[in-house]
Amino acid sequence: MALYALGDLHLGFQVNKSMDIFGKVWKHHERKIEKFVTQIVKPEDTLVLTGDHSWGRKLPECREDLAFIEKLPGRKILLRGNHDMFWDAKKTARLNEEYRGRLFFLQNNYAVYKDYALVGTKGFTFEGPFYLNRRGGIIGWDEERELQARKLVERETLRLRESFRQAEEAGYRKFIMFLHYPPTNILEETSPFTEIAQEYGASAVVYSHCHGENRFGDSIRGEFHGIQYMLVSGDYLNFHPALVLD
Ligand SMILES: [Fe+2]
Ligand SMILES: [Fe+2]
Repeated sequence: MALYALGDLHLGFQVNKSMDIFGKVWKHHERKIEKFVTQIVKPEDTLVLTGDHSWGRKLPECREDLAFIEKLPGRKILLRGNHDMFWDAKKTARLNEEYRGRLFFLQNNYAVYKDYALVGTKGFTFEGPFYLNRRGGIIGWDEERELQARKLVERETLRLRESFRQAEEAGYRKFIMFLHYPPTNILEETSPFTEIAQEYGASAVVYSHCHGENRFGDSIRGEFHGIQYMLVSGDYLNFHPALVLD
């Protein structure tokens, strides 16, 4: 039995959105997902998909994407990504009702793997615009947007705390924390998300969202303050699910 994670499948079976323009790694990426997930994940394993599942804007446009995910091996747990327009944050319970026993939608709730609680939320982080000097150094940024970002971060921390609270109330003391957005932005060393991870003593923080060589290093990777930080965006892993726990 093992716990795996992979993010940003960016499927678009019904909306005909091809990811090929984003580079070689994305060419026929759905075939790679099917191949590598099937090779790595066993039926008794758990696979957390950390958001940006589908390009469909409404649930009926995502049905085939969700059916594709459903057919992958293992128990599948889904996190909300910024592109998952089909998933209204207030209607998570309804999605869980509909996909009961097939897919689990992680939002304002938690899942269990062995003696760990799997907690998480979409998260948020300020992504610019940044103003650069001729050498590419950051000399400023859009302050209004940064202020807006702070509000979104605050809202997401409340959702994350709710997930931790429920798990703790149920008696869990070991946690794996999932975010779609990276826990810190390129200006930060720590953030409200890293602070919450520390406060609860999370064993790992798993996130995705960062695409392309230039963005893979945007946030923390590896051990930081005793917590393992893992980037699992699909293109970063060439669509091989990453082992979080065994
Ligand atoms: Fe993405
Ligand atoms: Fe994203």
